[in-house]
Amino acid sequence: VFIHRFKGLRDLEEEVGERLQIKKVIVVPEMIQDGEIALKEIGKAAANYLKSTVQSKMIIGITGGSTMAAVAEEMGKEQGKFQDVIVVPARGGLGKDVDKQANTIAAKIAGKLGGTYKLLYMPDNIDKNVFSTLSEDPVIKDVMEYIEKIQVLIFGIGRADKMAIRRGLSPAELQDLAQKGAVSEAFGYYFNRNGEIIREVNTIGVSLKKFKELKLVIGAAAGAEKAEAVVAISRLNANLVLVIDESLAREILKIK
Ligand code: G3H
Repeated sequence: VFIHRFKGLRDLEEEVGERLQIKKVIVVPEMIQDGEIALKEIGKAAANYLKSTVQSKMIIGITGGSTMAAVAEEMGKEQGKFQDVIVVPARGGLGKDVDKQANTIAAKIAGKLGGTYKLLYMPDNIDKNVFSTLSEDPVIKDVMEYIEKIQVLIFGIGRADKMAIRRGLSPAELQDLAQKGAVSEAFGYYFNRNGEIIREVNTIGVSLKKFKELKLVIGAAAGAEKAEAVVAISRLNANLVLVIDESLAREILKIK
């Protein structure tokens, strides 16, 4: 039974990879129908994959959210192997929940790898004037330089509607997003089904241009409800490695 199941998952990975035309798909099995367990398994699989790609002096970018928090939580501790690795938050954003902030997650992953980290003291959705003043700050400038040098980005993929509510957008803004067909949110951008930008969060962070140029991007998501969001992101960069659960993989295959 297990071998059969294992083969089923490998087939599923291949099918999704072919459908989305991306580098690699890792599907974690759903032992129990429980969101938390899926997140844990995804965190573990994404953390292991990230580790397998880490090279000396690598600069790793990471975003916030519950999926990335699971990556940090599930990552096994390394001793002395990755001392020269630097982990950088890929986007500003200081939400209410400290465990889910990119800063916290970057620090935690650096701790697990035995490397170092940078912190970005920059909230989400700030006023344009504050934004340009903060951008002149030497500490923030320093982190911005590291963000420009990220070699691998590991990021969470969210539904546009849910992320907009989480970020406290107004009812009018929510309606505007929906009207424009926003289905996906990742690293501070909202996208439609074709991966076109609908809206950008006003904060410092990895640019879409930079994202598209990266040789390796690792996106992780759990839950069938994120299918459209994931498909949209897959249009941005073919070097995407996707870490998802079984039900999400099956839902992606249902999308025309
Ligand atoms: O940008 C997308 C979010 O990071 C996804 O958040 O992992 O909490 O669902 P989540």
